[in-house]
Amino acid sequence: MTLIAFHDGIENASLDTWHYHLTKSDPQISVIALSDSKANDAEIALVWNPPDGRLAELKNLKLICSLGQGVDHLWKDQKRPQSVPIIRLVDLHMSHALSQWVIAVLLDFLRDGPFYRENRLKREFNKLPQTNTIAMKVAIYGIGAIGSVVAQNLQSLQFDVSGWAQTPKTERPFKQKIGKHGFESLLHSNLIHICLLPLTKNTKGLFSQDVFNQMPKGSYFINAGRGEQVDERALLQAVRSGHLSGAALDVFCEEPLPVSHPFWNEPKISIWPHIAAQTDPATTFEQIARAIYAVKSGLAPKNLVDPNREY
Ligand code: GLV
Repeated sequence: MTLIAFHDGIENASLDTWHYHLTKSDPQISVIALSDSKANDAEIALVWNPPDGRLAELKNLKLICSLGQGVDHLWKDQKRPQSVPIIRLVDLHMSHALSQWVIAVLLDFLRDGPFYRENRLKREFNKLPQTNTIAMKVAIYGIGAIGSVVAQNLQSLQFDVSGWAQTPKTERPFKQKIGKHGFESLLHSNLIHICLLPLTKNTKGLFSQDVFNQMPKGSYFINAGRGEQVDERALLQAVRSGHLSGAALDVFCEEPLPVSHPFWNEPKISIWPHIAAQTDPATTFEQIARAIYAVKSGLAPKNLVDPNREY
């Protein structure tokens, strides 16, 4: 019997679906809510943003599986059992979903979606000249499993894509810039800036007022990384002043975005409720089942997180 303690939010909306898929792969598995006292005996935690201190109460815990591609939600828990390995999801379906979101918001901006929706409300048939996007320069910050897919999909739409990483990656089929100098050179030379970075101490607050100032006037900013990578006041100021032509955001410092947040009043900021790539149990349960099998057999699971790197 393998007991999995599960938490995807207060309502545990996907618990039954995970139970269905995981027991299909191994009938000896049982998935129960992390909040249930029986979960104290669990060997596996399958979680998103678990309540602080709860994982420390699971004395048989052998593996923590993040229910997302990001793991920053786990670092917030100071009492998290440090010796228990963590894995994250790496899923081509999620990478493609995220890539579709980036393409949707980017093309909506470039093909004047807000203007035509406004027209629609006013029953007006006005036109704007179309923007030429062939060879338009796009910078993607973060070129791991997700960023690489986004980069290649944008390349196939004829954008001129460069990717940024903090340290050199293996060969990629698009241009790469590395480190601080690479970051600055991309800021200066691109009109579209897409953040897909994991949240770590190195990326927290990365998109500051100074960084927005270095982007060419008229740049567009897209964020599907994490809200805390952005100085939200600086972004708002850059958009309001007209230095940036707008932004599309799927992530925010505080989620849900508070109703009083000034972003809601800025029509050039497109707001999305953290849906760019949603976890689908049907496409990810196999990697969780394989990781459980590996850990129970004394082997290292795939997609292990490096606590020093923080992702
Ligand atoms: C979503 O933000 C994820 O980490 O998968």
